[in-house]
Formats: sequence, structure tokens, C-alpha cells
Amino acid sequence: MKRDNLEVLISADKIQERIRELAAQISNDYRGRHVHLVGILKGSWVFLADLIRRLDLEVSVSFLGVASYGKGTKPSGEVKITLDLDDSIEGKDVLVVEDILDTGETFRYLQGVLGARQPRSLRSVVLLDKPARRNQPVHADYVGFTIPDAFVVGYGLDYAQKYRNLPDVCVLHPDQPK
Ligand code: IMP
Repeated sequence: MKRDNLEVLISADKIQERIRELAAQISNDYRGRHVHLVGILKGSWVFLADLIRRLDLEVSVSFLGVASYGKGTKPSGEVKITLDLDDSIEGKDVLVVEDILDTGETFRYLQGVLGARQPRSLRSVVLLDKPARRNQPVHADYVGFTIPDAFVVGYGLDYAQKYRNLPDVCVLHPDQPK
């Protein structure tokens, strides 16, 4: 798919290379333990699918759906659960898998909701970190790439539910008036 308003920021090859490194680090840190991955829908499932196949660990996975953005590129400031976990995380080593850390509001909300369910440990891995717009004191334990303040799509990330199928992470530029 080629469009004028999309510019490749991180190529599919670079993403895979970094995922191999992240997976090696995570496999090393959790050596000998069972890790329960919690994928945050919808943005993280492409990343999770690639990451999980590189983990040299015993793993299980469940998904939590959250909505924070609506249809625009600006945060609504409101986070809500759209699909809850189908199993208990009590006593488990939980690794939250997120697509992007932006203002940190979703992350902070997730830490509260998941922390209250008494996991044995709670860590997080994000593919992308966009620190420029952070307004919450949060950080991810594992970060794929730190990116500038731009709206990105592809590799699972969307704009109004579109572009999730792009293999690269791309900057979405606003349409230019003709
Ligand atoms: P936060 O609550 O502002 O940290 O936003 C986190 C959520 O907003 C992510 O899980 C994404 O779903 C969405 N988001 C933030 N920045 C972008 C972006 O550049 N492209 C697509 N979605 C984004």
C-alpha cells in the first residue's frame, strides 16, 4: 500500500531485529519462570504475535481491551475497558504488552486495574515510547523504540481503525489542502 501522507518511520526489518533483542532480554530476565502476557487490544496484537514466538520461556496469554482515543489523533483523557480478561492474574508474573506509550494515561489506568488483581509481579513492554506528550509519571520496563511526537500508524496501530495492516510503522501526515 503506498500513500502520499504516509512516511515510513521504522521498517518491518528493523522492527523484527529489535523484537529479537527484546525477546532475548525478557527471556533472560524471566529465566525459569512462567510468564503471563496480557495483550492490550487492539493496538498490541501484531507486536504480541511476533514477540511471543521469540520468547524462550513458558508463556500464557490473555487480552484486555481498552479504548482511549475515539476516532481522532488527540487523547480523550478517558480510558475504559471494552473487553475484560477471561482468567485470573492473581499470583502470576504478568507482562503487559502495549503498542505505544504516549500521555501515559492508559498505562497508569492499567497499572491500577491490574495491580489491584494481585499479580506476583507486574511489568510492561511497549513497542513504541513517545515521551514528548507524557503527563503521567509512568515508564515501561522494556521499550522497543523511542519516537518523536508524531502520530504513527501500521504494525497494529490505527487511525480511525485503518492502517493496522501496514508492515512498517509510519508517520501519518495530515492531508494537505489541494
Ligand atoms: P496514552 O494513554 O496517551 O498513553 O495512549 C495510549 C494509547 O493511545 C495507545 O495504546 C494507542 O492506542 C493510542 N495512541 C497513542 N499515540 C498513538 C499514535 O501515534 N498512533 C496510534 N495510536 C496512538
